[in-house]
Amino acid sequence: MTIHALTTDKIIAVIGAGTMGAGIAQVAAAGGHTVRLYDAADGAAAAGIKKTTEGLDKLVSRGRIDVADRDAIVTRLIPAERIEDLADSAMVIEAIVENLDVKRQLFQTLEQLCGDDTILATNTSSLSITAIATGLKRPGQVVGMHFFNPAPIMKLVEVISGLETDATVAAQVFDTATRWRKHAVHARSTPGFIVNRVARPFYGEALRLLEENAADIATIDQVVKGAGGFRMGPFELIDLIGIDVNYAVSCSVFEAYYNDPRYLPSLLQKERVDGGRLGRKSGRGFYDYGDDASPLEARAHPAMATPNAIRVSPDCAILKPLIERFQRAGIEVTSDSKLDDVIQLPTGTMALTDGRTATRRGFEDGIDNLLLIDLCLDYAASDTIAISASLGCDPQVTDEAAGLLKAAGLGSYLIADTPALIVMRLVSMLANESAEVVHQGICELEGVDIAMRGGVNYPRGPIEWADAIGLDTIYTVLNHLQQSYGSDRYRPSLKLAQQVYAGKPFLATEN
Ligand code: NAI
Repeated sequence: MTIHALTTDKIIAVIGAGTMGAGIAQVAAAGGHTVRLYDAADGAAAAGIKKTTEGLDKLVSRGRIDVADRDAIVTRLIPAERIEDLADSAMVIEAIVENLDVKRQLFQTLEQLCGDDTILATNTSSLSITAIATGLKRPGQVVGMHFFNPAPIMKLVEVISGLETDATVAAQVFDTATRWRKHAVHARSTPGFIVNRVARPFYGEALRLLEENAADIATIDQVVKGAGGFRMGPFELIDLIGIDVNYAVSCSVFEAYYNDPRYLPSLLQKERVDGGRLGRKSGRGFYDYGDDASPLEARAHPAMATPNAIRVSPDCAILKPLIERFQRAGIEVTSDSKLDDVIQLPTGTMALTDGRTATRRGFEDGIDNLLLIDLCLDYAASDTIAISASLGCDPQVTDEAAGLLKAAGLGSYLIADTPALIVMRLVSMLANESAEVVHQGICELEGVDIAMRGGVNYPRGPIEWADAIGLDTIYTVLNHLQQSYGSDRYRPSLKLAQQVYAGKPFLATEN
């Protein structure tokens, strides 16, 4: 196999010494290259290197790297006084202001200054690589090299090809990023690339649940973390990113896809932006960060009654680890082939959500007192689960279900009777968006998972996760969501439908 990676004798230039540029320069220097860092603002390059050095000092004091490594990285970071000092670079990575005209102008200057084979990489997160390269003499040399914040820590680099990007250039950037110990993924230049597009439902569905009063902020976050295994809840994350920034990305993706309802932004965000509640940076967003703020807390449903015995249908495959937990808690479990995909409690019926509300499913399937449970990343280990009950469901059923789940070590969070609850809804939509990205040839199936794990720390790639849940389940959930809302937002991707009708999971078929 040909190795395309730039060797360490090649000089890398980084332009823009802000949040991203300084981090990218550190990554390239740690990869063994001499790095020239240039910024239009006086003293910014030196300040960026100083900040990087301070960050490395902290790592030394925590024993994460040794002094020799710190010194080697710092010695390779050289501030450039003038843009002309970058002429001998093999690759330039720009991380300047997110403005198409300014970036184009910069690349025009670089094209004149640098060699014909210098790679012109951009860290843009939202602009088209094709548009940036338009009008240049060598558009084939222009490629997206999209790092995630903080660049030295986040593993992912999206390598984005525009219409004119030379395949060898993309391969060189991919292999160079890999040599820098990053997880590189090829993608075609389309709005949001992979991560910023596939992640939209993580925010969008959480916002919709809140908008409909399906659950409160703290409960949604608690369930997404505790049951879904995500490191942060959607509202904590939006507050950290900045509600204005997250809202702007949502709007730009929505507009770029010609108002596809899949990406519809939320009024809840707009209202907070209008009101100056921007998240952590302004002291208040979905949460209040003031010293005297009373914290928002999720409250588990009290476990009032624990059943001694339950009956389960033999086809509850995905819930098997949960049922085993019930058994270990001393509850008598009997398999009953007369039951259809449900767990029978003494007072009512419990089932995994299939995307219908409990009320609708109870009506259609002729079940009184139906209680639904949400998806968990790992039913064997989760300590949290969302539950919902049909309208008119006897409160005793909820109490009993909460008691059963508590006996197995899970806190249950009762939410409104909403289609697909919380984690099933988010994960189904993430999987659907992932399928769509692959369907449109933007990247490979495996690439989506690498991107979502490395770019936003998802606990499991949506593709692999969908396979584990079963694509027929995801497909059913989406169809039910689409019926519930009568909206194209939830239309299943053709790629997903094809896999379901072929009876094949995503991953086994692609190899
Ligand atoms: P920043 O505002 O922290 O830094 C930008 C730096 O570029 C400033 O120091 C500024 O003086 C300099 N600059 C502006 N115009 C310049 C020019 N014409 N020539 C030379 N230097 C110039 O911005 P940040 O956050 O580092 O973003 C940079 C780029 O990275 C943008 O394209 C952004 O969309 C992208 N990006 C940002 C991420 C983030 O989380 N902040 C994540 C991934 C990509």
